[in-house]
Amino acid sequence: MAAITRNFTEETATEAVLQRNEGCSDARLREIMAVLVPHLHAVVRELRLTPEEWLAAISFLTRTGQLSSDRRQEFILLSDTLGVSMLVDAINNRKIDDVTPSTVLGPFYVRGAPAMQMGDTIALHGRGEPLFVSGRLCDEAGQPIAGAELDVWQTSEDGFYDTQDETQPDMNLRGVFHTGADGRFWFRSIVPASYPIPSDGPVGDMLSALRRHPMRPAHIHFILRAPGYDTLTTHIFIDGDPYLDSDAVFGVKDSLIVPLVDATPEERAGHGLPEGCKALSIDFRLQPEAMTHLAGAPEAAQDSGARP
Ligand SMILES: [Fe+2]
Repeated sequence: MAAITRNFTEETATEAVLQRNEGCSDARLREIMAVLVPHLHAVVRELRLTPEEWLAAISFLTRTGQLSSDRRQEFILLSDTLGVSMLVDAINNRKIDDVTPSTVLGPFYVRGAPAMQMGDTIALHGRGEPLFVSGRLCDEAGQPIAGAELDVWQTSEDGFYDTQDETQPDMNLRGVFHTGADGRFWFRSIVPASYPIPSDGPVGDMLSALRRHPMRPAHIHFILRAPGYDTLTTHIFIDGDPYLDSDAVFGVKDSLIVPLVDATPEERAGHGLPEGCKALSIDFRLQPEAMTHLAGAPEAAQDSGARP
C-alpha cells in the first residue's frame, strides 16, 4: 500500500498511524504500538464513540494521573480492578502443577522490612487478635528448601497498612525471615482484616458506576526467594472471608485459601502464645528454575479474545 500521508478516513486511519510509526528503531515499542493501535481504533469503531464520551475518557485518565503520587498509585488500582495486573502476573509466572501459584504484588509492598528471627512478632502496635503463622518452604516434590527468604506484610486488625495509617509504627506488620535446613517458618502476628482498596478517586467512581464493591478478602502477602527457584509473590487468604468470590482485584486462587483455626496447646506452649491465639498454616512449594520452561501457556491463553 502506498504511504498514507493525507485524507485520513475511517477506512485508512489504522494503517495511516501504523505506517507513521514504522520508523521507530525500538523493535519492542514498534511491536507494542502495532498491536495497541489497531485494538484502540477497533474500540472506537465498535462503540461509535461520541466526542462527549471521548472527552469523559480523557478526563477520567487525567484524574487518575493527577491522583497518583509516591503514596497513592491510582493507575495500578485501575490496572488491578480491570484484571490487567493479574493477567500480566499469570503470563509471566506460569507454573507447573504441584507448585504454589502467584498473585498480585499490590501497591503496599515496602522494600527493607526488618530482618527477624523465627518466632518473632511482626505486630508492633499492640492491637488485634493474636495469630500464629507457620508452614514449610518446599520444592515441587515436597523436599524442604533451606536458606529461603520470606518477605511478609499484611494489614492491621482494621484493614490498614502502616503506610496508610499514622497510628502504626513504621514497618509495622512487616518482616523478613530465613528458613533453616528443614524449610520451616513460624512467626507471630495478628489476624488481618478484609479492606477496601482506596475508593475516593476515579477508580472508586468507576467501581460504583459498575455496581462493584472495592473490598479485598483478608490476606497476608509473601515474597519467597531461594537460590535455584523462581521467586514467588503470593498471598494466603483466610477461608470463610465474605469477599473470596468477589476480590476487587481478582487475586484469589483456591490453593491459597487456608482455614483460620485455634492454635494447638502444643503450639501455645512451644511458642509462648496466649490463650485463644489463632493459627494459619501453609506449605509453599516453589518452582525450580530448571522447570520453568515446562510451564507452558494453557491453550485458551493463546487466543487474545480481542476483536480488532
Ligand atoms: Fe494486601
